[in-house]
Amino acid sequence: MILAEEIAKLKKEKNAIILAHNYQRPEVQDMADYIGDSIELSRKAMEELEAKIIVFAAVDFMAESAAILNPEKKVLLPSPGARCPMAQMLTVEEIKRAKTQHPGVPVVVYVNTLAKAKAQSDICCTSANAVQVVASLKADKVLFGPDRNLAEYVQRQTGKTVIPIPEWGFCPTHLLFQPEDIQILKIEQPHAVVLVHPECTSEVQKMADFVGSTSQICRYAKKSCAKTLIVATEEGVLHRLRKDNPEKTFILAYAGAVCPNMKLNTLERIYASLKEEKYVVKVPAPIAKKARKALERMFELR
Ligand code: 13P
Ligand code: SF4
Repeated sequence: MILAEEIAKLKKEKNAIILAHNYQRPEVQDMADYIGDSIELSRKAMEELEAKIIVFAAVDFMAESAAILNPEKKVLLPSPGARCPMAQMLTVEEIKRAKTQHPGVPVVVYVNTLAKAKAQSDICCTSANAVQVVASLKADKVLFGPDRNLAEYVQRQTGKTVIPIPEWGFCPTHLLFQPEDIQILKIEQPHAVVLVHPECTSEVQKMADFVGSTSQICRYAKKSCAKTLIVATEEGVLHRLRKDNPEKTFILAYAGAVCPNMKLNTLERIYASLKEEKYVVKVPAPIAKKARKALERMFELR
C-alpha cells in the first residue's frame, strides 16, 4: 500500500500516467490510471496529451505500439523481460517468404507482433477488430499472423481464405484451455454462459456463447443476465470482472491460465521504473514509420 502511495507521488512529480492491460496483477490494475485491452491501450497512448511519461504495465509489443503512436512521450516498460512469446513467432523472413509465395495477397498482422513485423504488413488488427479489419479488405484471401487460432476464427466469421503465417503460431497461455474442462463446468453449471478469447483453439471457441477481446468479454459480462460465467482467457481479467460485477460468479475455465510475462510487472518494478525512468522503449525511426502506417490504417476503420 505504501508503495502504491509512493508511485502516486512519483507520478505527480514526473507528470506520468500508468496504463495497465486487463491481465495485470490486481494491485497493478487497482493503481493504474487506465485499464484496457490492447486496442484501448493503444488508442489511449496515441491520444494522450498531458503526460510526459507513459508507464506501460503490459508486454513488449503493446509498449512498442505506444512508442510508435506517440513518439513525443517517454514510454517505459517496467520489466524488460515482459515479452509476449507469440509476438516473437512472426519473423520478417516468414512474412517475406509468404509474400513471395502469395504475391499480391494483403498481409494482416495481429498487434501481438514486433514493430519490425508490423512494418512489413499492410494493416494491423487486434482481437477486438480482426474480423472487421479482414472484412474491410477487398481481397478474398489474406495472409494473417502470428496467431493461428485467431486466423481460423476470422476465416469462419468472414468466409474469406485466411492463410496463417507461420502455420503454427499460438499463445502458450490460451492453449491451456481444453474443451473437456469447459464441458465438465457446463455440466456442473448448466445455466452458465461461456466467454472465450479468440486465441483459444477453434474447439474451445466453438463452445462459447461469446468470443471477444478481454475488454469485450468484460462488457458482455456486465450486460449479461447470467449469474454464472465461465471465462476462457488469462486469469487477470477475473479481477476486473469480479470488481465490476460483485453479484455474479466468474469461473476460470482452467485454473492455471496465467501469462507469466504479463505478471512480471510488480508494484516494486513499476516504482523503480518510474523513479529511474527505465526501461525506455525505442523503435528505430524507419521501422516506426512503416509500422505506424499499418496501425493507423486499423484506427481509420473505427
Ligand atoms: P486483448 O487485445 O484482448 O486484450 O488481448 C491481448 C492479448 O495478449 C491476449 O492474450
Ligand atoms: Fe502473449 Fe499470450 Fe501473454 Fe497475451 S496471454 S501477452 S498472447 S503470451
